[in-house]
Amino acid sequence: MTAWLTDSPAWKALEAHHQDVRELHLRDLFAQDPERGTRLTAQGAGLYLDYSKHRVTDETLRRLLALARERGVEARRDAMLRGERINVTEGRAVLHMALRQPRGAVVRVDGQDVVPDVHEVLDRVFAFAREVRSGEWRGFTGQRIRNVVNIGIGGSDLGPVMAYEALKHYAQRDLTVRFVSNVDGTDLTEKTRDLDPAATLFIVSSKTFTTQETMANARSARAWLLAALGDERAVARHFVAVSTNAAEVQGFGIDPANMFGFWDWVGGRYSLDSAIGLSLTLAVGPEHFQDLLAGFHEMDEHFRTAPLEANLPVLMALLGVWYGNFFGAETQAVLPYDQYLTYFPAYLQQLDMESNGKSVTLAGRRVDYQTGPVVWGQPGTNGQHAFYQLIHQGTKLIPCDFIGFSQTLNPLPLPGGGSHHDLLMANVFAQTEALAFGKTVEEVRAEGVAEELAPHRVFEGNRPTSTLLADRLTPHTLGALIALYEHKVFVQGVIWDVNSFDQWGVELGKVLAGRIVKELGPDTPDLAHDSSTNALIRRYRARRQE
Ligand code: F6P
Repeated sequence: MTAWLTDSPAWKALEAHHQDVRELHLRDLFAQDPERGTRLTAQGAGLYLDYSKHRVTDETLRRLLALARERGVEARRDAMLRGERINVTEGRAVLHMALRQPRGAVVRVDGQDVVPDVHEVLDRVFAFAREVRSGEWRGFTGQRIRNVVNIGIGGSDLGPVMAYEALKHYAQRDLTVRFVSNVDGTDLTEKTRDLDPAATLFIVSSKTFTTQETMANARSARAWLLAALGDERAVARHFVAVSTNAAEVQGFGIDPANMFGFWDWVGGRYSLDSAIGLSLTLAVGPEHFQDLLAGFHEMDEHFRTAPLEANLPVLMALLGVWYGNFFGAETQAVLPYDQYLTYFPAYLQQLDMESNGKSVTLAGRRVDYQTGPVVWGQPGTNGQHAFYQLIHQGTKLIPCDFIGFSQTLNPLPLPGGGSHHDLLMANVFAQTEALAFGKTVEEVRAEGVAEELAPHRVFEGNRPTSTLLADRLTPHTLGALIALYEHKVFVQGVIWDVNSFDQWGVELGKVLAGRIVKELGPDTPDLAHDSSTNALIRRYRARRQE
């Protein structure tokens, strides 16, 4: 049995150590060690991590690594890989890493090797993708499929949409790929308004095939299709499903031959590399999807084999714990300097916040320490002209992950010389430098700034950042990047002793919405909510359109 986190020797040692080092400034840490910027770095699966601009000394790192060891990170990782039911509240194994194992590898759940099943589904996904992309698969009227619409939400949407946007460079551009997730009718209406039903394929992606939003959108999409094609038999040519629930899929009218399955040991937010990636595979093709899986796998292998001190996910997890639990930081910004990674912060929000937004331990005891951070961000340089001000000069400590690439997929020279990409990357380096080192009042005065303005122009610095650099945004790199964050979240969950693989917190809202929707209809029953909810529902009923 694991000791209570805050009573553990490694934790106590970190608390004491924090008192000693919390005032240290990155300016001094760099001045004392000219090698710091190359020493505090690590590499894995094509990613280079510079963590030198963090408020840590060698002793801090030693103590954080001792914490990871004391909490049994390695043993938990191995238990996950062995297929143990580490998702204790749902009694499930957690094996998203099996999804990217090469053919021939062995991963057992209850004694049965699941890798052949994984590849059997992947082969079907790839064969189907080839049929659609080549035009062999035809719609009900014989037209070629030109539009693909994925209907899903949460893990059945965010992974595919994020990766589709991230890998657009590799996409077949004459195929329109869209994602409908919101139950707000605007989403489906806007995403289908210019599409020809006869040339549109819907992928209903839902692990459970019972999610209210997804099923509502799927039913409305079906009605939209039938209104145009007028024959129930069209459904089988225009709808396929990705799900673990064969009975519900068939009930919807989707041919079981066009259902792509996955397993209860794949969590929704960890499912992009299962058949949930079908829409992405249609867009970028099987070969690119395989490269993505290879990138995931390479990072899995790094996580599995690299010593903790050189292990990227472990280092990033520990730095997060350092700020969240010892400095009181509440949020973590993720700032990708690549337009294609627009949805990456939103994807990480689900991955991190649904996984570690927990307040009881595996044994069900209320924690008395902070767990998962608020994750947020958007691509640079846009954020620089919006919220970076607060990161630079506000009162809150916000650790940031900067993500950049040495090569761009869209080289664009500037008419006067130089390139867009150099400008972009100059901003990455400038921001992390400014955040770390700031500008002292002496430096401000030396610039001739008037004394009364000087306090406004001072940058304290000492704002911690990680910089992740990769050569190029390829499917492989993206896979590695996602797996890096998956494992970071896992390590933090182990340290905090929470179950990173359930999401009971979303249940109550779902149940209440199901109840309230009946109260909005024409046969409105008496309301028995609190006075606020009652009044809001009454006002809505009185004013809504019929
Ligand atoms: O938001 C809760 C959740 O259960 C997520 O974990 C999941 O990704 C999403 O709903 C969608 O679920 P499903 O794939 O079953 O429709």
